Amino acid sequence: MCGIVGYIGNKNCVPILIGGLKQLEYRGYDSAGIGVMNHNGVHVVKSVGKVAALETKINGSPFRSTLGIGHTRWATHGVPNERNAHPHVNNAGTLMVIHNGIIENYVEIKKTLSAEGFRFVTETDTEALVHLIDSFIRRGYPLFKAVRAALSQVKGTYGIAVVHASEPDCIVVAKNGSPLTIGIGDSENFIASDVSALVAHTKQIVYLEDGDIAEIRRDSFFVNDMTDQRIEKEVQYITVKLEEISKGGYPHFMLKEIMEQPESVYNAMRGRLLYDEGTSKLGGIDEYADRLADSKRIIISACGTSWHAGLVGEYMLEQYAETPAEVEYASEFRYRNPIITKDDTVLFISQSGETADTLAALKETKRKGALALGLCNVVGSSIARESTAGVYLHAGPEIGVASTKAFTAQLTALALITLMIARKKRLSLTDGQTIVRELQMIPDKIRTILRLNAQIETIANKFADARNFLYLGRGYNFPVALEGALKLKEISYIHAEGYPAAEMKHGPIALIDENMPAVFIALKDSTYEKILSNIQEVKARHGKIIAIANEDDEEIDNYVDYSIKIPRTIRMLNPILSAIPLQLLAYHIAVHKGLNVDQPRNLAKSVTVE
Ligand code: G6P
Repeated sequence: MCGIVGYIGNKNCVPILIGGLKQLEYRGYDSAGIGVMNHNGVHVVKSVGKVAALETKINGSPFRSTLGIGHTRWATHGVPNERNAHPHVNNAGTLMVIHNGIIENYVEIKKTLSAEGFRFVTETDTEALVHLIDSFIRRGYPLFKAVRAALSQVKGTYGIAVVHASEPDCIVVAKNGSPLTIGIGDSENFIASDVSALVAHTKQIVYLEDGDIAEIRRDSFFVNDMTDQRIEKEVQYITVKLEEISKGGYPHFMLKEIMEQPESVYNAMRGRLLYDEGTSKLGGIDEYADRLADSKRIIISACGTSWHAGLVGEYMLEQYAETPAEVEYASEFRYRNPIITKDDTVLFISQSGETADTLAALKETKRKGALALGLCNVVGSSIARESTAGVYLHAGPEIGVASTKAFTAQLTALALITLMIARKKRLSLTDGQTIVRELQMIPDKIRTILRLNAQIETIANKFADARNFLYLGRGYNFPVALEGALKLKEISYIHAEGYPAAEMKHGPIALIDENMPAVFIALKDSTYEKILSNIQEVKARHGKIIAIANEDDEEIDNYVDYSIKIPRTIRMLNPILSAIPLQLLAYHIAVHKGLNVDQPRNLAKSVTVE
């Protein structure tokens, strides 16, 4: 969603801001803008659409400064047009603000300030904040104090950066609910909502916490809380490398990330498997391992693809860890009155670690005293920091909006957690060792699947004109069907539904005709015979069938139009393998349709609003 960058130093900030905004493009946005400080005050350029359009607009204009802020906007209040894009300025053109999040009481603030004569020109909630800060500056407050006073009247979430012409050597930033970091340089400092915008410039990062408000100058910065008390901040070193956030020769990040899965899955388990003991060791939650194993119930809470990983986790935990497990959409979980006790563990899964609903559900869980564990990919993210303890996925940065390698890394981490609990319970050493061995073989099996890329592309090209798709699976492969359908929807805009295969008869079968492709995940497990019957039912109604089947399954070719054959593994790990051909299928269909695979319309990588 919205992205923030900012620079104060001795260089021209414009290319730095544009470069930073380009790194944030993956988050999803619909307009962009930058604002700089110059001798006449603040100067802003905005544009609808991509950062490249903004860049073209700026090129050729005498637009340079050593202080500036930039923003990518994902519209919430007001359509995506130039007027609603950030930075927003006050009526005098001396103050500019960029903002991520939502000011919930903006209507009241707007009413009061309009009555006082402030002129509103946009449909955004942010503009209320601009005029509110301005109202304090007009009363003689210095910028830092004006921002703090304004924020104390605001309800909602924000990551903001504020610049005022009367203090041309500082940027004031504040955070509540939306991520914000300070990047420390040599006689220069940076701000960004996401460290990927900073890695080209510095590895030294200060993560702001909710309630922090900071003043940033060229050579210094300080952070206070909302009561004006100074907070000492730890400077952290980030390990993300620039090449990890570039396409590395692939046409799209999504394809690169799909192809990286042998390594990302390996990295998720690296150093965590103990063959001799037939178990796993997860440093981040080791201290809580017994409490986790003794939990009466494990609740998994997440959104989107991470929620699908949670569903697979539920099957794993029930099969091996003998622990009742439930999976909850974070958005529903937090607004019900969930019965959570101190004997429960709630596991929050989030690639970005910033999803607003998941973060809020985590805070609620902590309030209720249950053990709150995080499963995140982004190191230092809000969910990672708020969790009592957690497991990092180590999948590396995921830039494509449609999650791929994070999903398979989540499944791997869930398998490790399950194994650890199961071994503390009744799983035998030899069964534990079987799981360890099977896990160790997964990266090579993924390599085998990735070699099917050309075959999958050929199949994809035949179906690119389909209007609807059904994805069907049973048991462990039901969540994979959901995930396969989600991937297709997200990037190809084809309507797709995932169903447990047996449920097909309770509705979706009415949709089947010769124009309706059905993708079956039909692996040789205990559900195989049943799924073959479901395949026959679709065939009898002339539906077109694509099957994800096992390598040694020749029988299936008698019933389906296309089969994609993948290696065998144990049931619990099947989803890691079967998800991959579905990622490639969705990818190639979207490419065939000429769509923007990495930044699909309306979607955001990191959903930081509720
Ligand atoms: C967005 C992304 C999805 C992701 C979901 C949850 O919708 O587009 O790819 O699965 O958010 O994100 P999280 O970062 O919490 O896993």
